[in-house]
Amino acid sequence: MAKLFPAGSGSCRLLDAGAGIGSLSSAFLERCASAELSFSEIKLSAFELDENLHAALDSSLHGYPIKLPLSYEITGGDFIESAVNRIQFGQNDFTHAILNPPYKKISSNSRYRLLLRQVGIETVNLYTAFVALSLLLMPPGGQIVAIIPRSFCNGPYYRPFRDLVLKHSAIHHIHLFESRSKAFKDDNVLQENIIVRLERGGKQGPVVISTSTDDTFADLAIHEHSFDRIVFPGDSERFIHVPTSPENSAFELSPTACHSLVDLGINVSTGPVVDFRMKPYLQGMPGKDTVPLLYPGHFSAGEVTWPLPNSKKPNAILHTIDTEKWLYPNGYYCVVRRFSSKEEKRRIVASVVNPAAFADAPMLGFENHLNVFHENKQGLPEALARGLAMFLNTMAVDEYFRRFSGHTQVNATDLRLMKYPSRDVLIKLGQSAMRQGLRAEYAQNIPPKDDASVRQYRDCMLQPRQARSPGEHFQGGLSDRAYSMNI
Ligand SMILES: C[S@@+](CC[C@H](N)C(=O)[O-])C[C@H]1O[C@@H](n2cnc3c(N)ncnc32)[C@H](O)[C@@H]1O
Repeated sequence: MAKLFPAGSGSCRLLDAGAGIGSLSSAFLERCASAELSFSEIKLSAFELDENLHAALDSSLHGYPIKLPLSYEITGGDFIESAVNRIQFGQNDFTHAILNPPYKKISSNSRYRLLLRQVGIETVNLYTAFVALSLLLMPPGGQIVAIIPRSFCNGPYYRPFRDLVLKHSAIHHIHLFESRSKAFKDDNVLQENIIVRLERGGKQGPVVISTSTDDTFADLAIHEHSFDRIVFPGDSERFIHVPTSPENSAFELSPTACHSLVDLGINVSTGPVVDFRMKPYLQGMPGKDTVPLLYPGHFSAGEVTWPLPNSKKPNAILHTIDTEKWLYPNGYYCVVRRFSSKEEKRRIVASVVNPAAFADAPMLGFENHLNVFHENKQGLPEALARGLAMFLNTMAVDEYFRRFSGHTQVNATDLRLMKYPSRDVLIKLGQSAMRQGLRAEYAQNIPPKDDASVRQYRDCMLQPRQARSPGEHFQGGLSDRAYSMNI
């Protein structure tokens, strides 16, 4: 991390917020000691809430003033309080910040939320609060290097933080750790981590993206990308993409995947049945006055299996005036699981709901762990539901999704903001799958040679592509399973 700071000169005011035992400050000072960074003076402020760590922090630092023009202070107490105070008094003199901040949700009416709001920071996690405060504590030219989870890159809750970062700084470098096994955990959602270098008030140019599986950096790969591949022009949500290969993705290349869900006339919503809030209405198995209740467990290999007699989850929900508003009419839908498991190859796993599976049920309940594509809260034409599921199951969509999402959760907002082939192309895709009796997971076998738009889609989205890293077979639209089946 310390190596990411550009050469500097003059006076350095270094901030280490949440300093722990001072490992990051020490790394920075080591660089200074080896003359890779050269300052006329260095003043370090190490903030650490946990006073039990202060002695160890002091012992990490106390040798450096002998070798360097360094003075340092260790400040106990709460960095957030102290930083808000400083910002309110116009103190913004830190030239460098090296951060491995704490990671914890900030609830909407907590003291932190209110404090941060006083300086115009609207955010939901301690790590984004630390980065935002550090930015505001710097004059133009200030450099931040931080190791943080990647969750801020997408999702609606981090939108104000993305706005703040993009307004006040330039992103110069993002390093992505592709392994999530040692990563931050949030509500059981595994997170990828990144190291990011920001420059307060910097001019935004190309962004260096480096990747490695883990902190051994054994397979380090570095590429530079124009900024419009990081934040797409015209993206109102300002997702931050982390492309992992220099080539444009199949998705970017595809001239057909350029339609919003609004263009398609459909929407996607989180399954409205939150089971713990509707316990009195849930039934183990279907019975009198019930309708099917669908959980992720009801879907496998792109299709629905219902009911599941041995499932721990309910299979049905009472159909009453109270529950009616949470239900959708029986019909064709495309559903995507909100959480994929770590073992799953793809993060987006789409399936088709076939109304025939539910006999005469008038309505369906979709549980909250599913995202549901619908047309004005009604079902979709069968071919559209099938085409959509096939499209979403392509590896190209998965690769695209991974660029802005570092966790295993797939939000309805993420799906809403993605671009899709036109309704017409999706329907043709679905029709061709229906003719061949293909299931939603077999997106790779897109046969019609006669239709130009579908052919264009197939050529761009489904062409075999190079392996992304040694040993990894990345076949564009071909899922590994289909590839091994040689479909
Ligand atoms: C993830 S650890 C990083 C420690 C160190 N920077 C490192 O990289 O080894 C975050 C540190 O922030 C401290 N911390 C948590 N909340 C804090 C707060 N509000 N103010 C100051 N420090 C805080 C924790 O005690 C912890 O030592």
